[in-house]
Amino acid sequence: MEHDLITEVRSKVDIVDVISSYLPLTQKGKNYFGVCPFHDDTNPSMSVSRELQIYRCFSCGASGNVYNFVMNYEHISFKEALALLANKAGIELKNFKITEKKQANEVFYKAYELAEKFYQNNLNSSLGKIARNYLKERSLGEDVIKEFGVGLALNGNTNVIDLLKNKGYDLKTLNEIGLANSDRDTYFNRIMFPLHDLEGRIVGFSGRIYDGSTNNKYLNTKETPIFKKGQLLYHYAMAREEVRTKKYVIVMEGFMDVIRASTIGVKNTIALMGTAMTDEQAKLIIRLSKDVILCFDGDEAGRHATMVNGEALLKLGLKPKVIALTGGDDPDTFILKKGKEHFLSLIESAIPFTDFKLKVLKEGVDLQSEEAIAGYINTVITETCKWDDEIRQEIVLKKLAKEFNLEYNTLEKRFQAIKEEQQKEKQHIAPKTYALPKKKRRDKYVIAMHSLLYYMLMSDKIVHKVDREGLFFPSEKERILASEISYYYKKYGIMKIADFYTYLNDKETLTNLLTEVLSLDLGTEVPSEEVDALFKVIKDYNVNLEAKRLEEKMKDEIDPLEKAKYAERIRELRMGS
Ligand code: CTP
Ligand code: MN
Repeated sequence: MEHDLITEVRSKVDIVDVISSYLPLTQKGKNYFGVCPFHDDTNPSMSVSRELQIYRCFSCGASGNVYNFVMNYEHISFKEALALLANKAGIELKNFKITEKKQANEVFYKAYELAEKFYQNNLNSSLGKIARNYLKERSLGEDVIKEFGVGLALNGNTNVIDLLKNKGYDLKTLNEIGLANSDRDTYFNRIMFPLHDLEGRIVGFSGRIYDGSTNNKYLNTKETPIFKKGQLLYHYAMAREEVRTKKYVIVMEGFMDVIRASTIGVKNTIALMGTAMTDEQAKLIIRLSKDVILCFDGDEAGRHATMVNGEALLKLGLKPKVIALTGGDDPDTFILKKGKEHFLSLIESAIPFTDFKLKVLKEGVDLQSEEAIAGYINTVITETCKWDDEIRQEIVLKKLAKEFNLEYNTLEKRFQAIKEEQQKEKQHIAPKTYALPKKKRRDKYVIAMHSLLYYMLMSDKIVHKVDREGLFFPSEKERILASEISYYYKKYGIMKIADFYTYLNDKETLTNLLTEVLSLDLGTEVPSEEVDALFKVIKDYNVNLEAKRLEEKMKDEIDPLEKAKYAERIRELRMGS
């Protein structure tokens, strides 16, 4: 791969822009911070430097340039990352070969796109009248039909099969991607909703009955190599921009809810599509935003889903909020009946999930039974113990005391007891979060080497000085990095840290060392006295090492004359330094 091309593409994209298209970043000082996507975390431990065009995570140590980020985030190869970023930068890659797997996927995406167009045409044809009426009845206008790519699978056995066979697809492939079932179309007589992956490519469909048929209401594409229901969320790619500006995301149950919300301009929404949230989906949601509002159906199933999914997000360190619909409404029917303003006010007054949970806990309690009340009070105290908000804890306990006419102290005592128990339990469970890498006790000379490497990266003058004076780095890793830096300057004239990362790419110990060195953050100015002092520390160390070696030899030497020679050399060494 051509070095020029790699650096050109890299220099045309800004790492801050690229990373913030995946996750929210906030600026602090000259750097940007976000939640690291490469380990389990909720703290903003990843920093991104616009100046150096690199990122690094203080917690798990992940680091690199924009290529490393995209490769690791998207689980793609270097070539694929290059293609993706070149595309972003508007640079055309000639003679560029993508991997076979990727090419196979492209063929799949193409098939879905062709099918989508076909379904859309059907909906607009004379045969689509009943379906069009159905959508009209449901108040889904042309705009939103277009926005969500809604189409229609007509009656017939091989409509889509014929279409795609004409375009060169064989039946086996169509079965593989779920558009055909044996030798028949999978979908017929259904309104078709395309489903997209995280990058916004069509990877499947959900087809809805519309003409009073008694089949399953929705028929979804089966799991395929590119469609895994638990790994994507409806409207994820499309919601990204809107979530970034609004700074929160609303999670709903069904995609009709998302579509309806869009008609009133609420577009920072995604849907789980009727399943419980998987760990993977929870992480995807966090990548969008840590401020999550759950807005599920106002029935028992929806309430259950709110409890389960709220708890899952809570465990991941989020403070989700809840819009609790009632009376069997889902966001779709609520918006239809009550309108935009009313729904917007529900968003405004979303309550913390923990409040919702307390409310739900209370609903089932038989207030006539002392046992039930005691059980309820215990449960509430157990819940409050998990919070990190002391004021709220006290408020809830006081309320409880008043409501059930109990001494506050009694509740407080119970609170402390449960808290202690919880802490004991916690100690037994290994912490799930990554431990911070232990601050290694580092020798003075290691710090000196790293500082010097840092300054070498900042200025070619220092590189020349190191070369000129033949400075020897006493440990191997550092020595190799120093020579790579020197070589890189010779070859490319200037040092661009981000490109240097790519240059070192397959040498992980070196990139790790590079990150460690850069995290010294010594600034871009190179103070020459300090550099001199660093040289001295390293040289002294070398002298000491050599002197020690000679001393050992001297000890083993029997000939007094030879012994004296050693002593003289050691003396000279020590004098000279
Ligand atoms: N779902 C499904 N298969 C079903 C029923 C539901 O896959 N037989 C999924 C769909 O993705 C749907 C979600 O579960 O979006 C929520 O289901 P539901 O609340 O029943 O759908 P609604 O959004 O209310 O759809 P509609 O208004 O069209 O009835
Ligand atoms: Mn619903």
